[in-house]
Amino acid sequence: MTEKPGSEPIADVPKSVSRRNFIKGVITSGVAVSSASYLFRASTFVQGQQLAGERLITLNVNGQQRRVDVMKQETLATTLRYKLGLTGTKLGCDRAECGSCTVLIDDIPYYSCSVLTHTVRGRKVMTIEGLASADGTLHPVQQGVIDEQGFQCAFCMSGFIMTAVGYLKTNPTPTRQQLAQGVSGCLCRCQDYDKILTALMRGAENMRRSNLG
Ligand code: FES
Ligand code: FES
Repeated sequence: MTEKPGSEPIADVPKSVSRRNFIKGVITSGVAVSSASYLFRASTFVQGQQLAGERLITLNVNGQQRRVDVMKQETLATTLRYKLGLTGTKLGCDRAECGSCTVLIDDIPYYSCSVLTHTVRGRKVMTIEGLASADGTLHPVQQGVIDEQGFQCAFCMSGFIMTAVGYLKTNPTPTRQQLAQGVSGCLCRCQDYDKILTALMRGAENMRRSNLG
């Protein structure tokens, strides 16, 4: 702890927490960034839900069958974050404008804030937590972000990565301009677009290499 005369003690930041490790933590679990306002909204939402009554359904998320209670009007972003604890999916605008909530549904990127959870029964949902291999090897696009250190606060990172992974399935050899178009549904409030694009292009290159290897 650090303490200045006449002030409250301040917790020291561990010196072992490097920017690289911070970025890696966000990439794999998303736990380093949270939104207090949404946490508040979630608690009120859950209270209302209990009053309205719940329904138990099974979802295929990151290759696992997950039983979860959802309301008819509940969005997939809410279910993932507040029912299943998958907080790597971020909520920015909550109205299909920023892309930070993007997940793959049957390999296609969707804004999860604008998809009703009931509509994805029987479909495969992939979040940022499901991208790495079981042995912990990062997805090539995640590795590209690590290699290039392509984000600032990284709030938008999981949305960009999921969108890029979905886009690269349709075009594995994009030009920089094509990839920019492919991820244009994502916004970065730090306006770090040039570095983000460089990182995603590195990710595309990593994917091609891993497919060859
Ligand atoms: S939170 Fe879904 S698009 Fe912004
Ligand atoms: S890096 Fe901060 S929002 Fe994109």
